[in-house]
Amino acid sequence: MSGFDKDWLALREPADRHARAQPLLDGLCRHLVEKTETPSLLDIGCGTGSTYRTLSALVPPATRWQLLDYDPLLLEEAARRIGSVEGVTLHRHDLNDLQSLPLEGVTFVTASALFDLCSATFCNRVVDRLAEQRTGLYAALNYDGVMEWSHAHPLDGQVVASFNRHQRLDKGFGPALGPDASDHLRLSLESSGYRVKVAASPWVLGAEKHDLQVELLRGMENPVTEIGLVSQSDLEDWMAFRLAAITRQDSSCVVGHTDLLAIRRR
Ligand SMILES: C[S@@+](CC[C@H](N)C(=O)[O-])C[C@H]1O[C@@H](n2cnc3c(N)ncnc32)[C@H](O)[C@@H]1O
Repeated sequence: MSGFDKDWLALREPADRHARAQPLLDGLCRHLVEKTETPSLLDIGCGTGSTYRTLSALVPPATRWQLLDYDPLLLEEAARRIGSVEGVTLHRHDLNDLQSLPLEGVTFVTASALFDLCSATFCNRVVDRLAEQRTGLYAALNYDGVMEWSHAHPLDGQVVASFNRHQRLDKGFGPALGPDASDHLRLSLESSGYRVKVAASPWVLGAEKHDLQVELLRGMENPVTEIGLVSQSDLEDWMAFRLAAITRQDSSCVVGHTDLLAIRRR
């Protein structure tokens, strides 16, 4: 499964939902209720609509949604899963074209598992566009570089360091911020007049999250190999150790993320 594969997105969705920082969800909903009659949300990099499915039950029912992604297959799956709902529209759009992002009248831009793929320059350009329109930002589930397992292995440090190095390669927006995404966004937003809150939203995956743990490991294999700091035989040993622990239902794992909520100061 790739990082944008619909099956991977479906597998991670319940863990993402559980991990989201509740105080930031509460802050977003409070702001929408208090400050806007008809809120309008634009979910960028929407995938199959995970953010919509989580937030739509929490935000005011009159909220209008635009869901935007560049991948037609993910948008097709989003349309299939969401169905025809009044006030929800899907848009095919490459985010590198920020100038024509449909921000007019949008109260908040939302995004999940997106900004760690993005470069510092891209994030600054997003912040400039948001500030022009006085639009808020809810950016959830940015990977923060932490990966820990209940049973330590001597190669954990090297494997995670290699994975994190790969996270900083270009993912289509220039050199990615990877684990620095939330910190960078926070500073950029604060210097553009936003009040910003950041909160931890880790996955804590117990034995019952067997399939997600396995796919997470499998998804690390190519990136770690590409970086080349861990030999192939060491990586195979490490992978076999981790998969055996999951099969024994004897492994839990923490993957760090952070959520961010930014509201324009008056
Ligand atoms: C890790 S997935 C997260 C999807 C969804 N937000 C979720 O939480 O399930 C990242 C998403 O960003 C989208 N994406 C990546 N690069 C993009 C670009 N240049 N323009 C628009 N969408 C992009 C991918 O297609 C994918 O749906």
